[in-house]
Amino acid sequence: MAETLIFSVPKENRAIRYKELVPQISSLLQGEFDETACFANTTAAINEAFSFFWVGFYRVISNELVLGPFQGPIACTRIQKNRGVCGTAWHLDKTILVPDVDLFPGHIACSSASKSEIVIPLRNNQGVVMSILDIDSDKLNDFTEIDQMALELICLHLQKHLYD
Ligand code: SME
Repeated sequence: MAETLIFSVPKENRAIRYKELVPQISSLLQGEFDETACFANTTAAINEAFSFFWVGFYRVISNELVLGPFQGPIACTRIQKNRGVCGTAWHLDKTILVPDVDLFPGHIACSSASKSEIVIPLRNNQGVVMSILDIDSDKLNDFTEIDQMALELICLHLQKHLYD
């Protein structure tokens, strides 16, 4: 029986995939303004393109981050402000790229397989953080400025679409 092997895309080859992914996600969003539906398809599209270890959103609800749509293994459901990479990205209101999660003080290990991580906040038109995108890799130092630029662009599309 044929075996299906899924390989992640080497980081050097990602730029070309992002070129297709960014417009693909904008067209997936067209006419759909439900946050859960938009986040669900965005995580699926990113995962189909790159097979990262974990791709998902957390939403700011009251004073914590609550797990939203994701692709990957089971994850922690609630994260406090200024805790872990996600809570810190929310608190500092900026993208955080972590080449080695073991070197990030307070990193929350939902899985010991996660080795590097990028977290990007999404804001409303008043600049208030409404949600965050979190992507984990099972490889050390797996995210570059290319990932950061393209994923920030995807988050900009999403935040304009959902929160403006
Ligand atoms: N590692 C994150 C927690 C979320 S999981 O990785 C899905 C953090 O430190 O905030």
